Amino acid sequence: MKTKILKINPKKINLAKIKIAAEEIKKGNLVAFPTETVYGLGADALNEKAVEKIFQAKGRPFNDPLIAHIADIKELHRLSKQVPPVALKLAKAFWPGPLTLVLKKSKLVSGIVTAGLDTVAIRMPEDNIALSLIREAETPIVAPSANLFGRTSSTTAQHVADDLDGKIEMIIDGGKTKVGVESTVLDITTRPVQVLRAGGISVEKLKEVISQVKISKELEEGFRSPGMLKSHYSPQARLILVEEKGESQAGEVRQLASEYKAQGFKVGIMAKEENKDKYKGFEVKVIGKGSELNICATNLFSTLRSFDKEGFEIIIAEGLEEHGLGLAIMERLRKASTPK
Ligand code: TXA
Ligand code: MG
Repeated sequence: MKTKILKINPKKINLAKIKIAAEEIKKGNLVAFPTETVYGLGADALNEKAVEKIFQAKGRPFNDPLIAHIADIKELHRLSKQVPPVALKLAKAFWPGPLTLVLKKSKLVSGIVTAGLDTVAIRMPEDNIALSLIREAETPIVAPSANLFGRTSSTTAQHVADDLDGKIEMIIDGGKTKVGVESTVLDITTRPVQVLRAGGISVEKLKEVISQVKISKELEEGFRSPGMLKSHYSPQARLILVEEKGESQAGEVRQLASEYKAQGFKVGIMAKEENKDKYKGFEVKVIGKGSELNICATNLFSTLRSFDKEGFEIIIAEGLEEHGLGLAIMERLRKASTPK
């Protein structure tokens, strides 16, 4: 299959082009498109055959459920059989935006979307290209991150093409995504509500709207013992994470980098701006200032992918502080890393 690339300026949406992409969705084909978080690989959420193609293109197992993207709050009521007041409160505060809500599914939603669960994940993205595409396709669009399964997510159309060229009908190129990490996944079928995946809306922000927010057990345990996490977001290079621990972090990073370099590996360091000068003699890529976690989030996946493009075999990554978007970044780095 020849993958078509459709360039659309997000600031000046060309509706005729959106309609071309929407037509592909209506036909049951796959279209990758930008959202404010990462690029998504979209299909008609109500067409089982189309949804199946997503799993095939990504190499994703069928037990990993998908997020349905909507452009109108009415769709929330159509896809969920029970919309509790907390859902509306959260939607009002954060939609459109990087928050995914897990609710009881309606009959309309097929088990292939939800991996057989009786719940469905729904979000309204903030990106204008994404919203216009959903409206023109006249259907909710399911979209996982547009990368090969288990690999680093895509924040540019080029990243999508690197992974999925020849496997999907079309890629809409709308430039670099704004947030850079995926949406926060929040299960609102339990009390208190539970964060299943840290993401673009921080836990602090959620707590401004609902007082009680729990971090899921799996996420917390994974944070204590990263080896327990199933591998995800992984670059091709082996990633070693050195936790944020003030002054001693750079020393440990240098030590590890020297050891692997001595063994003949091509080693790169992903560092905070303020630490980059501590790694003279090593190859360094800067993720951003440690105090600007939003910027670090934007750069995370593209930095990891650039190490791969340049053939690095080992990446030693500096951990960041775990507040705001730092929690989402650290969840991803932990899942992407292998034990030392
Ligand atoms: O920002 C995002 O969320 C991006 C963009 C494209 O919207 N999408 C994305 O999708 O990250 P994906 O498939 O890569 O991740 C979806 C996550 C998975 O961790 C999945 O387990 C969880 O959402 N999920 C989906 N449905 C669920 C459900 N019914 N219950 C619990 N978790 C669910
Ligand atoms: Mg993903």
